[in-house]
Amino acid sequence: MSKKERIDKILSNLGYGTRKEIKQKIKSKMVKVNGQTIKDNSVKVNPYEDIIKFNEKIIDYRKFIYLMLNKPAGIISATEDNFNKTVIDLIDDKYKAFKPFPVGRLDKDTEGLLLITNDGELAHKLLSPKKHIDKKYFVKVSGKLDNFDEESFIKGIDIGEKNLTLPAELDIKVSDEISECYVIIREGKFHQVKRMFEALGKKVIYLKRVKMGSLYLDSNLKLGEYKELSNEELDIINR
Ligand code: URA
Repeated sequence: MSKKERIDKILSNLGYGTRKEIKQKIKSKMVKVNGQTIKDNSVKVNPYEDIIKFNEKIIDYRKFIYLMLNKPAGIISATEDNFNKTVIDLIDDKYKAFKPFPVGRLDKDTEGLLLITNDGELAHKLLSPKKHIDKKYFVKVSGKLDNFDEESFIKGIDIGEKNLTLPAELDIKVSDEISECYVIIREGKFHQVKRMFEALGKKVIYLKRVKMGSLYLDSNLKLGEYKELSNEELDIINR
């Protein structure tokens, strides 16, 4: 059972205006609760159970939002930055009102799956180093890849940290001057994939995250596009 909250607080949290503006809108008879026009901005309602209408439109109340972004290169995984465009700049104002943040970081030049939410608990679960959530990347590197590289990924690689990297997977698709492969890592050290290849004498020239845990990047999302997670995808990511 969720508790009652002031109507002006609910509406302002959802981005319908400041508390002062909401008060004005309530005065102008723009807000109805369960069919009744309300006059008092301090009235308390249950946003999950009462039907709130703003300007004759039912508001879709929820506490959390969960977005999947296909991050393009050139954008940084932060909520704000003085110089660069951030992933939050890519999303609509109606979502910004929820004060969302990216779940972890992809480098500025990395593309692909990035979750954006305001659910701190879920973000913590997904990022906790103890949970070892799999992250799968499609990678292009300069130089040929071979069995030695595959075995190095399995054994762990010295990337200049206290310990070797945890066992990871390297699935070689093309081995040539420019090689292509999939990599699965279970930790999220700074520039980890790039540093793993660098330790093997290769340079990453393209990096895209395609999967996190059991959740795949939706192939319908073009670069820079995002969508709300479906209930099924939410179940997958919560599992
Ligand atoms: N590893 C990297 O090197 N960069 C990323 O953005 C993600 C994983």
